[in-house]
Amino acid sequence: MEKYERLFSPIQINSIEIKNRLSMPAMFTKFANPDGSINERIVEYLEARAKGGVGMIVLENTCVDWEYGRANGNPITIHKDSYIPGLYELVIELQKYGVKVFPELHHVGREQMSKYLDGNQPWGPSAVACEGGYDIPKVMTEDDIEYAINKYVDAAIRSKQAGFDGVYIHGAHGYLPYAFLSPKSNKRTDRWGGSLNNRSRFAVELVKRVRNVVGAGYPIIFRFSGEEWVEGGLELAEGVVFAQYLEEAGADALDVSGGGYESIVGSPMQGQAFDSMIYMAEAVKKHVGIPVFGTGSMGMYPALCEQLIADGKVDMLNFGRSLLADPELPNKMKQGREDEIRHCIRCNECLGALDENQGIRCAINPQLGREYKDKVILADKKKNIVIVGAGPCGMQYAITSSERGHEVTIMEKSDRIGGLAFIAGISNYKQKELWSLCQYYKTIAYKRGINVLLNTDASLDIIQTYNPDKVILTTGAEPMELNVPGAQKAANALDVLENDGNGITGRVVVIGGSGVGIDTALFLKDKGCEVIIVEMLCNICGELNGYLTKHLKQLILQNDIKTYSSFCVKEITDSGIIGSFNGRIEQLNCDHVVSAIGFKRRDDSTLHNAISSAGIDVEIIGAQCGSGHIMEVTRKAFVNALMD
Ligand SMILES: Cc1cc2nc3c(=O)[nH]c(=O)nc-3n(C[C@H](O)[C@H](O)[C@H](O)COP(=O)(O)OP(=O)(O)OC[C@H]3O[C@@H](n4cnc5c(N)ncnc54)[C@H](O)[C@@H]3O)c2cc1C
Ligand SMILES: Cc1cc2nc3c(=O)[nH]c(=O)nc-3n(C[C@H](O)[C@H](O)[C@H](O)COP(=O)(O)O)c2cc1C
Ligand code: SF4
Repeated sequence: MEKYERLFSPIQINSIEIKNRLSMPAMFTKFANPDGSINERIVEYLEARAKGGVGMIVLENTCVDWEYGRANGNPITIHKDSYIPGLYELVIELQKYGVKVFPELHHVGREQMSKYLDGNQPWGPSAVACEGGYDIPKVMTEDDIEYAINKYVDAAIRSKQAGFDGVYIHGAHGYLPYAFLSPKSNKRTDRWGGSLNNRSRFAVELVKRVRNVVGAGYPIIFRFSGEEWVEGGLELAEGVVFAQYLEEAGADALDVSGGGYESIVGSPMQGQAFDSMIYMAEAVKKHVGIPVFGTGSMGMYPALCEQLIADGKVDMLNFGRSLLADPELPNKMKQGREDEIRHCIRCNECLGALDENQGIRCAINPQLGREYKDKVILADKKKNIVIVGAGPCGMQYAITSSERGHEVTIMEKSDRIGGLAFIAGISNYKQKELWSLCQYYKTIAYKRGINVLLNTDASLDIIQTYNPDKVILTTGAEPMELNVPGAQKAANALDVLENDGNGITGRVVVIGGSGVGIDTALFLKDKGCEVIIVEMLCNICGELNGYLTKHLKQLILQNDIKTYSSFCVKEITDSGIIGSFNGRIEQLNCDHVVSAIGFKRRDDSTLHNAISSAGIDVEIIGAQCGSGHIMEVTRKAFVNALMD
């Protein structure tokens, strides 16, 4: 019996059969052209996932109304007939792999600003602005409602013409249909507001009207948020009844997500349970007879996915970020190569990139979005490459070099693979993710026959015994030292994490409110300490993306960790710290002080010069060049390794 027998069993949705229970949900990429048309970048990005074995692919939010309903950036669009040929090309390219393809018909509604709509006011059921700086929407008239519904209907006709296997309607995450559904954003007193029946009318009407034009055999799947997760928003009990309305209206399947722009994000992060969102799909499934899709961290824990299907809690599972991180995940599961999966680390750097008006990027898959350009092909000439340092940078370099046919040796001074990424996994809340990444590097190195020399402090002599054509120094960064009186009394965060707390107990002040300081604080809290974080800048989480910042602030709150921003430490004394805070001198008493004030470049010039003087090509990359995140160092390693 196949290990994931149920996950790899087919399912019927209306007239089509999907080869397995794995669906890639819509994920906005910002890869499209500025006018919303398809390009090679999107095709190759999705083709990699289609090839990887997923059963169906839902195209990212696909715009039905460019004037009033487009997402910020450059979403794929289907608002005009002229986009059909491009979409058709995409669809046939993906269908070659036996994958079913759906567009996600999308109107942004009130979760938008005029400045991103060429000055047009966003539309909504009522004049209730979405929190977070969005514009007050124009209250839609009956005519506007009719106009918007027709936009979806026209887009559905085009979807069929473009060869899609069915349509998805994006009624989740606060977008237009959900804005009508939500009691928080819909304050209307006419037939489109008030009772659940009235608030559901827009979505129900969409399903019925789309059905009229696409015919009985064409699948319509509706995505909505089972709960809105905000005060005054939609609750699950109503979500379940709404699901029944959709079934009655003619939807063939339902995809149950959660939240919207005003809530926590529906892409669960490190520390959240791997099935934290499934309860909503499970509740819906109990009350409808059509297939139900569950979402949230699926694929990151394959055995759990199989169990969810086996237990009949859901019928299909969305593998979102897990396929961004590893497009081949389904094939690896099916072929018994599970240990080769590069599991998503749930850091939401991908979403963070969107907020910075970038195309999506992945912390651990440097090829994401570059499939069309950065191809891993055999090198013209096989080289002997020595890499110093087995952190994420060195490991990515080693893997890519080895895939290109080079002979690779890694020298690592410690007794393990992963560098600081291993230490990052010492805090409980992200241990599974970070250690799984280290394990992935280890497995691939072993399977590819990369020569890993642990406990090896690299020197010119050792390096020369391997007769390299090229040496890569990726020795990472080192902690900065505090420069205040009494600094020697403070422990270093890395020592604390690596040495099971280093004997620290009681009340602790952690100096530094960035990622490392927060991880250390959470670690010490788990050990029973009372923890305070002080940060010199006006905000903690300084350089982290918005999603991580929100998530970490929530963890800090839940763990009852006190924080002081704009606190500049002046001295460490036997009884605690003294610093300036809000223009006055403040003293915080504690039993221990831990320093987590950041990292500096490691000075490798001696080794570099020695290697270079010996006539060997040598390059320094990674964290010791100043980048403090896995995403930057793996990207740099990958790109550079393609050049050898
Ligand atoms: C607590 C903590 C939490 C973090 N959390 C995150 C996070 O959530 N997300 C994120 O993106 N980043 C995080 N980081 C940062 C991330 O770990 C680093 O950006 C990343 O590890 C840098 O990779 P690297 O390969 O360049 O260097 P490193 O990971 O530092 O690896 C360098 C390696 O070189 C080895 N080495 C050094 N000198 C020699 C020598 N002479 N000979 C042989 N080997 C040598 C070292 O032992 C080490 O293994 C965190 C860091 C810490 C400390
Ligand atoms: C980068 C990114 C973009 C997303 N864009 C969309 C989108 O366009 N439409 C949508 O319905 N959901 C979107 N989502 C939500 C995902 O479809 C999915 O429901 C969510 O990430 C949880 O699944 P996962 O944990 O498997 O990633 C996006 C998620 C990510 C990470
Ligand atoms: S960026 Fe982070 S959360 Fe997004 S897919 Fe990659 S590993 Fe997962």
